[in-house]
Amino acid sequence: MKILAVLYSGGSAAKEEPRLLGTVENELGLGEWLESQGHEYFVTSDKEGASSVFQKHVVDAEILITTPFHPAYLTGDLIEKAKNLKLCVTAGVGSDHIDLNAAIDRKIQVLEVSGSNVTSVAEHVVMSILLLVRNFVPAHEMIERGDWNVAQIARNAFDLEGKVVGTIGAGRIGYRVLQRLKPFDCKELLYYDYAPLPKDAADAVGARRIQDLKEFVSKCDVVTVNVPLYEATRGLVNAELLGHFKRGAWLVNTARGAICDRDAVTNAVKSGQLNGYSGDVWNVQPAPGDHPWRTMKNPLGGGNGMVPHYSGTTLNAQNRYANGVKQIIDNYLNGRPQDPVNIIVGIGKYETKAYGQR
Ligand code: NAI
Repeated sequence: MKILAVLYSGGSAAKEEPRLLGTVENELGLGEWLESQGHEYFVTSDKEGASSVFQKHVVDAEILITTPFHPAYLTGDLIEKAKNLKLCVTAGVGSDHIDLNAAIDRKIQVLEVSGSNVTSVAEHVVMSILLLVRNFVPAHEMIERGDWNVAQIARNAFDLEGKVVGTIGAGRIGYRVLQRLKPFDCKELLYYDYAPLPKDAADAVGARRIQDLKEFVSKCDVVTVNVPLYEATRGLVNAELLGHFKRGAWLVNTARGAICDRDAVTNAVKSGQLNGYSGDVWNVQPAPGDHPWRTMKNPLGGGNGMVPHYSGTTLNAQNRYANGVKQIIDNYLNGRPQDPVNIIVGIGKYETKAYGQR
């Protein structure tokens, strides 16, 4: 059987650090295991264009392993050409780089390693909220420059205590963010999600649900985005919605870049409508060198907490999702049932409500 994996290139870091399992070099730790069973295992980072290794090999692969950190975009056209493809496995969480509706039509299953990196992301979200609210990045840059001007930083530094923080999406990550924020004594924790939290879960963190998105954002000092990317969430945070935010609110998005409109966010930060934007996800990855989110600043020269897509690929997370991918493939090869929580698309239908209440 032919198995194709598209992973990010780890270079010398992957040779020096074998726990970087999600790289081409360390191939999720699956190489020997698959080859000893007589399977062909191709691993590449080359994913763009018709002559890429990905597009050439996907036409006859039975299993495709991809990762959100270096997404191989499996479009409807490619699915049409991939005549042998039966199983797509996402090494991580979030399968928006796959045309899920086309996979349903072709009866290709799509599985993720659900939960594998949700704590990793939730920690990053809390860090990002704090670094924006406390104006951390410009303070550190000042120190590296050899300068010292307390007032210049303190004029835009606040406490998280007493602020209203809300999450768009209160699933695995969103809920963990709320749990981690509870001890900060925020004024209120809010959430917007079409599925209400169970009462005891909402009570445990003291979170209140607001069902109208504009009303929700208008109440928040900090908004964090934790929904999957699909038709209903693409461009959800656009110029119109940003106009309903409190002036000077902070926005953190570690979900997917395309949920927030690139130019609307850039303009909002530059004008001060947003005091800052932070996250690790970009609409197309790797992000182009001239992407405005790399360098946008608020009127006081701060408010940018952008990093490459790594919040969910800590070494701990890589260990969990590499093990999860192995388990999914082992189940598939041996005809065993899959853990239902990992199934995004089963044979011919969605098996989760995370990508829409269908
Ligand atoms: P989850 O499935 O546990 O939670 C998603 C929540 O969003 C659910 O509660 C669902 O009801 C809600 N939702 C879906 N569509 C909605 C809509 N239109 N309006 C309101 N609520 C809606 O997913 P989880 O594990 O929390 O992950 C969320 C997303 O985070 C992933 O799909 C992925 O895109 C992203 N992610 C990013 C990572 C990173 O490294 N930056 C790593 C892992 C996930």
